[in-house]
Amino acid sequence: MAVTTFANHKGGVGKTNTVEALAAALAAEGRRVLVIDLDPQGNLTRRMGYQEHEVESRPTIAEAIREHSPQALRASFLPCQWEPDWAANITLVPSRIELEERVAEAGVPLSWQRLHKALGQVAPEFDDVLIDTSPTIGHLLHLALVASDYVIGSTSPTYDAVRGIYRLIKFVNDADQRAGLGLRCEVIGVVVNFKRAGVANHETRTESLVKRLGDLVWEPHMPLRAGIEDADERAEDPLGVSSEARDIIKLRAARFLKAVAA
Ligand SMILES: Nc1ncnc2c1ncn2[C@@H]1O[C@H](COP(=O)(O)OP(=O)(O)OP(=O)(O)O)[C@@H](O)[C@H]1O
Ligand SMILES: [Mg+2]
Repeated sequence: MAVTTFANHKGGVGKTNTVEALAAALAAEGRRVLVIDLDPQGNLTRRMGYQEHEVESRPTIAEAIREHSPQALRASFLPCQWEPDWAANITLVPSRIELEERVAEAGVPLSWQRLHKALGQVAPEFDDVLIDTSPTIGHLLHLALVASDYVIGSTSPTYDAVRGIYRLIKFVNDADQRAGLGLRCEVIGVVVNFKRAGVANHETRTESLVKRLGDLVWEPHMPLRAGIEDADERAEDPLGVSSEARDIIKLRAARFLKAVAA
């Protein structure tokens, strides 16, 4: 069992889509997957089938962190609502806007360990734990990183998004941050989304990413496709988008399994 955080210090780069797609591929292979929506926007929660009003008066990740107990985390569990049978292998820890309130606890000693504490006894019940994050390098990301074994960066092939990946990697590898927060996680991959063939800027950005990070950049890249956005809009399973998207997602899942087994 491994806990993996998906992040970038840049918004709208496909982080949530990467998490839901990987969760789908792992679940379709029969793995038991826990996905944690650690973004107050709650996009993953909505895309797995729950509108804002449906999680308004029930426990979410916000309460699990406040209580930092396995019981509170379990109380938040919801089944993924996608149609295929394998969706039953995915358990969602939903989020709602109240998660923003946890940020105020940033100065409380050891508050950054709260998700790790809540996950402690729970994580071993799953094969994979995937954490979706918001595009900040603040307390919410700290909570995710402290709880994680691995980190995967998700980016578009554009200047600001790639800079966001470099800042994320710098933060995770910074000796003072590692010691201060007690991080043990390592960056195992960077995935590129929204790639447009024949767009010079996308080629340049992808090449510079590979030049700097080498094998850490996973191939193949996910192209920009309207069907991917449509499926997210309709809260549908990402494997059903197209055979092209499914093949890329499955290759990512294979690479993921190899990386976490290493
Ligand atoms: N390969 C793609 N092709 C087309 N649309 C995509 C692709 N990947 C993601 N999208 C869409 O782009 C938008 C942003 O993606 P997503 O929400 O996954 O990014 P994010 O990094 O999680 O954003 P945020 O920083 O707000 O959490 C969504 O509408 C999503 O459906
Ligand atoms: Mg997101």
